[in-house]
Amino acid sequence: MITTKFTEAFGIEAPIVQGGMMWVGRAELAAAVSNAGALGIITGLTPGSPQLLREEIARAQDLTDKPFGVNLTILPSISPPPYDEYRQVIIDSGVKIVETAGSNPAPHLPFFHDAGVKVIHKCTSVRHAVKAQDLGVDAISIDGFECAGHPGEDDIAGLVLIPAAADRIDIPMIASGGFADGRGLAAALTLGADGINMGTRFMSTVEAPIHQSVKDHILAATELDTELIFRPLRNTSRVASNSVSREVVEILRNGGQFPDVRELVAGARGRLVYEQGDLEAGIWTVGTSQGLIRDIPTCDVLVSRIVAEAEAVFARMNALMSRASTPTSGVDASALAVSAR
Ligand SMILES: Cc1cc2nc3c(=O)[nH]c(=O)nc-3n(C[C@H](O)[C@H](O)[C@H](O)COP(=O)(O)O)c2cc1C
Repeated sequence: MITTKFTEAFGIEAPIVQGGMMWVGRAELAAAVSNAGALGIITGLTPGSPQLLREEIARAQDLTDKPFGVNLTILPSISPPPYDEYRQVIIDSGVKIVETAGSNPAPHLPFFHDAGVKVIHKCTSVRHAVKAQDLGVDAISIDGFECAGHPGEDDIAGLVLIPAAADRIDIPMIASGGFADGRGLAAALTLGADGINMGTRFMSTVEAPIHQSVKDHILAATELDTELIFRPLRNTSRVASNSVSREVVEILRNGGQFPDVRELVAGARGRLVYEQGDLEAGIWTVGTSQGLIRDIPTCDVLVSRIVAEAEAVFARMNALMSRASTPTSGVDASALAVSAR
């Protein structure tokens, strides 16, 4: 058992969160993750309307009595979804945890806080994390360059981003991007985070409601098999490497603009990948952590295994410290012993 500021603040057993995932973060996955003692998250925009989100939340409430959250991704758009209505559905449904991402959560915070909803804000830079903390969010999810989806434009990987953020963040903070096993959890805790957030790893579980061929593809893929699309538009997104994503990269590299790739990147085409398993149907999201994924376990097995692996890492580190404290070394191991908080 690993107890951290995050597990205590959010009432969960394992310091592991399943991040919002468009087309993937459905009730059955979120409930399975929460039933495993971690924090499952329904992706608010996936059901398609505020009313359908209400039904999705109700479905998760039937499947678990553990805490789960809803992701509200607020991206710039010409015709934005009715975010205020989504927010009200979350509040009315009695959900007590929200993951915000994409842009400044300030307009939504007073409503959530008045309703007793805790907000985890996911962002990709220390400056945005500090700003969100100043705004009064309840936790930070700091997403490194390794991540699936939007890594931002700074290209700072977790090894620097996590401790740099930890130096400035006092509220609970989880590390995101590139985590897939207990070594990663132990590393995140060591770097100053209070837990981890994972997307790609949870896609490759029994309960993830996506086509088996997507899961099998992730198993076979390596850390090299992603593309960064929309780089020249400064709206970078890390996605699976396929003929569609490579074409998008090529068009934009050659000076193309969004209208030139609009049809290729259509969300409806990406959705087909997850639903029908045609890996070339469109753009689909995955992170570099696919290079660490070797099996498709249940969420329960995965969460217990990650915690056990992290505990084993800490035990091994403690043993190294003990060895270092033999009389000839002159090192006081008890002062250096590693422990999970
Ligand atoms: C299929 C997929 C869809 C995603 N969609 C969203 C989304 O709609 N909103 C969001 O905030 N993050 C989204 N993410 C990002 C995850 O919540 C998480 O931050 C990211 O996956 C962490 O990196 P990892 O994949 O290396 O674990 C998505 C990730 C994946 C794999």
